[in-house]
Amino acid sequence: MKALEQRSRTTISIQLNGQARSGGCDNRTSLADFLRHELGATGTHVGCEHGVCGACTVRVDGSAVRACMMLAAQAEGSRIDTVEGLAQAAAGAPSSATAVVLDDLQQAFKRHHALQCGFCTAGILMSCSDFLQRRPDPSETDVREMLSGHLCRCTGYTNIVMAVLDVASSRQAQAPAEHEDNHA
Ligand code: FES
Ligand code: FES
Repeated sequence: MKALEQRSRTTISIQLNGQARSGGCDNRTSLADFLRHELGATGTHVGCEHGVCGACTVRVDGSAVRACMMLAAQAEGSRIDTVEGLAQAAAGAPSSATAVVLDDLQQAFKRHHALQCGFCTAGILMSCSDFLQRRPDPSETDVREMLSGHLCRCTGYTNIVMAVLDVASSRQAQAPAEHEDNHA
């Protein structure tokens, strides 16, 4: 029996928010549980555990994925980005939970009051970050369609849509300037 238990354990190595991390888990452990319980990345939330609510969404090699629906073993060798990776450490600041600079998506959510309890927010942010890379100039309908894969029980969706559209238009406005800078 003990030999059987040992055979069902595996070691998983991933790039988590740009850092090499590894840990042991059961073969049946979901990526969400592996991130939270083995690697301590508790920014990824778990709600329904069957792919409906979107709270557990992370990016796997760039694509938004339900971490409750993927086995940790399937993520071996992958690049995993979670909400913890969105904010950057403030330049020159000591490493601590408060010494971070929120990215533009997080700042827009704050500015537009696009969250209340925040339980759904980590997953929504990760979907949005993937979505805006693929659709840099989305319509409101596009944003609402993307958000249809997420359940938010307390904020409602209007402010979230406004935040995402705000970021899209800011990035669009900056893009030509950056292009010109690169060719100056
Ligand atoms: S916890 Fe994964 S989709 Fe709800
Ligand atoms: S902010 Fe509370 S569930 Fe979305």
